[in-house]
Amino acid sequence: MAVPFVEDWDLVQTLGEGAYGEVQLAVNRRTEEAVAVKKVDTARALDCPENIKKEICINKMLSHPNIVRFYGHRREGSIQYLFLEYCSGGELFDRIEPDVGMPEVDAHRFFLQLIAGVEYLHSIGITHRDIKPENLLLDDRDNLKLSDFGLATVYRHNGRERLLNKMCGTLPYVAPELLRRKEFRAEPVDIWSCGIVLVAMLAGGLLNKVLIEGPKNRATISDIKKDRWFIYQFKRGVKRTRLSSGSPTDSQGPFTKQIHSNVDLSPASGLPWSEDQTRYSSSQPEPRVALSSWDSNHSSIDNLVQGISFSQPTCTDHMLVSSQLQSTPGSSQSSWQRLVKRMTRFFTKLNAEQSYLALKEVCEKLGYTWKKSCNNQVTISTMDRRNNKLIFKVNLIEMNEKILVDFRLSKGDGLEFKRHFVGIRCKLSDIIYSQKIPLPVT
Ligand code: ADE
Repeated sequence: MAVPFVEDWDLVQTLGEGAYGEVQLAVNRRTEEAVAVKKVDTARALDCPENIKKEICINKMLSHPNIVRFYGHRREGSIQYLFLEYCSGGELFDRIEPDVGMPEVDAHRFFLQLIAGVEYLHSIGITHRDIKPENLLLDDRDNLKLSDFGLATVYRHNGRERLLNKMCGTLPYVAPELLRRKEFRAEPVDIWSCGIVLVAMLAGGLLNKVLIEGPKNRATISDIKKDRWFIYQFKRGVKRTRLSSGSPTDSQGPFTKQIHSNVDLSPASGLPWSEDQTRYSSSQPEPRVALSSWDSNHSSIDNLVQGISFSQPTCTDHMLVSSQLQSTPGSSQSSWQRLVKRMTRFFTKLNAEQSYLALKEVCEKLGYTWKKSCNNQVTISTMDRRNNKLIFKVNLIEMNEKILVDFRLSKGDGLEFKRHFVGIRCKLSDIIYSQKIPLPVT
């Protein structure tokens, strides 16, 4: 049985971890609403209470289909809980195959959505300061959502822009001026990291003006939106939408003219592609978490935000496993549906014990540090190619008489994690089911 969180809410899965604490998936037993709960222990760092206040304050300012929605927050002693839109599609890095990237058409679509989110942020004077694939989440319709505003700040207020001087972000995604200059402009720094994300997605061809070293000459969002590759892909996206909705697909329609006259391409602009996205931007089913009706109609999430009694799980991933195995087939299916989508998992042809031993043997051969954290879960640590610490957790979950081996990044670079996962998968190929076994859906 999953441990109760607040009344009807169960914490069923750890979605992510960071220096701040953890993000967990909370599911309402009655309504099946799903919410991501970010838990921040403010006692851990001296500047933390101020940082978390700022993160909450910035989150309250945000409302855009390409930004993770903020439902509210609650404090229990030194712990702050932030309640956020659950993105069941997982993290963007998981869609990137090391040294390969992803299909170009997907990369374009994600890049358009990323630029729409960043354009919105900049329009209200906020810079994210840590754009990277780990902070780009996907909802159930693969819409990209910028997440984690822990490093975000206001750089423009009442029309006055200030220069930044704080070194923050994640090294591979950080713009060069941040390392070289005392003060720098906020917008080009975010643009640089968008460029690195694009390179990671494509692992090749590139809008190289996004990565011009001098921030003055670097592409702005309006430059990016005038780029031929960007417009071409945008038009392709619109065409696909029209095709799937049975509308005319002639390229000389009004939309083409609008493109040439350089109109707003953002998802909020009301163009065909954005309509689709706005309608489906929430990961929760419409009647439960429709954006427009949130404020008055979410008593169960309100309870979660305002509730008083908490009990904390000891090992949520394991709780999920046991609750899956013990519950009825119906409830098990809906729980599985809630599981965050991950590519870093596979089914084995062996039983649990044999799977565990096979994984252990491969990890030991690869020189990884192996630690059993709790039932069915191991923590694996190693160093990545940049000599940075990489820690990931592996859960062995019994499902339909097969063993699902599920990997989740705990600390370090997302793409490096993916690279190590691929290495392990390759070494275990003899015991892995090669055909895809879908998770059950109702
Ligand atoms: N990991 C971190 N935040 C998340 C969210 N809001 N949804 C899904 N996974 C997450």
